[in-house]
Amino acid sequence: MSGGGSAQKGAGAPLVGRDRDIEFIRSFVNQAAIGGGALLVSGEIGVGKTVLLEAAASYAAAARMRVLRAAGAGSRPASASLRSTSC
Ligand SMILES: Nc1ncnc2c1ncn2[C@@H]1O[C@H](COP(=O)(O)OP(=O)(O)OP(=O)(O)O)[C@@H](O)[C@H]1O
Ligand SMILES: [Mg+2]
Repeated sequence: MSGGGSAQKGAGAPLVGRDRDIEFIRSFVNQAAIGGGALLVSGEIGVGKTVLLEAAASYAAAARMRVLRAAGAGSRPASASLRSTSC
């Protein structure tokens, strides 16, 4: 994940230094709305992965996309939860 200034990213406090990451994720969301896709966000504990994904979800919801959320539990990865979600 990379730096930048400070910007308001939907609901919640401004994210500091994530302008380039936010722009990348918005571009990804726009493209995924057309052709699908997957994006893996990785980083050290507490570096800001969740708030970045929340910003992406807010952006997608504002664009009237359906936002599904899944979380891993024990040995069951989040992808298994998504596979079992019907929509
Ligand atoms: N760019 C940022 N600007 C301001 N606050 C931030 C930023 N990134 C993260 N934070 C704050 O730091 C804390 C940790 O962020 P977050 O929970 O998104 O990290 P995480 O990488 O998902 O952590 P974990 O690895 O534990 O899941 C939160 O309080 C969040 O609001
Ligand atoms: Mg997190």
